Amino acid sequence: MSRLSPAARKALLTLHLVTSLGWLGADLVLLMLGVAGLRGADPEVVYPAAGLVVTYLFAPLSVVVWLVGVVSALLTPWGLLRWRWVLVKFALTTVMLGLVLLLLTPTVRGLGELGAAVTIRDRLDLVIPPAVSSTLLLVATVLSTYKPWGRLRAAAPARRHPVAAARRS
Ligand code: HEM
Repeated sequence: MSRLSPAARKALLTLHLVTSLGWLGADLVLLMLGVAGLRGADPEVVYPAAGLVVTYLFAPLSVVVWLVGVVSALLTPWGLLRWRWVLVKFALTTVMLGLVLLLLTPTVRGLGELGAAVTIRDRLDLVIPPAVSSTLLLVATVLSTYKPWGRLRAAAPARRHPVAAARRS
C-alpha cells in the first residue's frame, strides 16, 4: 500500500527523476572533461574544472540520489526489497556512492592539484571510471523503465488479487 497521496508520489517521482538523471548528466560531463584531457587539452584548465564538478555537483548528487531513491522505494508499493529491478538499482547505486565518495572524488581533486605534471595514466583516471559509471547509470535507467525479472518472493494472495480476496473474506 502506498503511504503517499497521488500528488505527493508524483512530486517524489519528479525529484527522483531530476536528481538521478541529473547525476547521469554530471557523470557524462566528467567523461567529456576526461576525454578532453586525454586528447591533450590544458590540464590546468580541465582537471580543476572536473574537481569543481565532482565536489559541488557529482558527489553531493550521489548522496541525494541514494536517499531519494531509497525514500521512493520505501514510500511506494514497490518497496526496497520486493522487486528485483529495485533491489539491483539499490545495490548498484550503493556501490557507486561508495566509489564516488571514497575513490573518485579524492582522485579527481588530486588531478586538479597535479596541474601540468599529469601523466597519461593519471588522465585515464578521468576517463575509465566515468565511462563505467555512466554505463551503470544507463543500465539503472533501463531497469527502471522496463522493470524486468519480477518479484523476489511471491505476493500474498490479497496483494495479487485484492478484489477476489475481499470477496472471499
Ligand atoms: C537507491 C537507488 C534507487 C532506488 C531504491 C530506486 C527506486 C525507484 C522506485 C521505487 C521507482 C518507482 C517510483 C514510483 O513509481 O513512484 C523508481 C523510478 C525510477 N527510477 Fe529509481 N531508484 C534508484 C536509483 C535510480 C537511478 C540511479 C536511476 C537512473 C540513473 C533511476 C531511474 C529511475 C527512473 C527513470 C524511474 C521512473 C520509472 C517509471 O516511472 O516508469 N533510479 N526508482
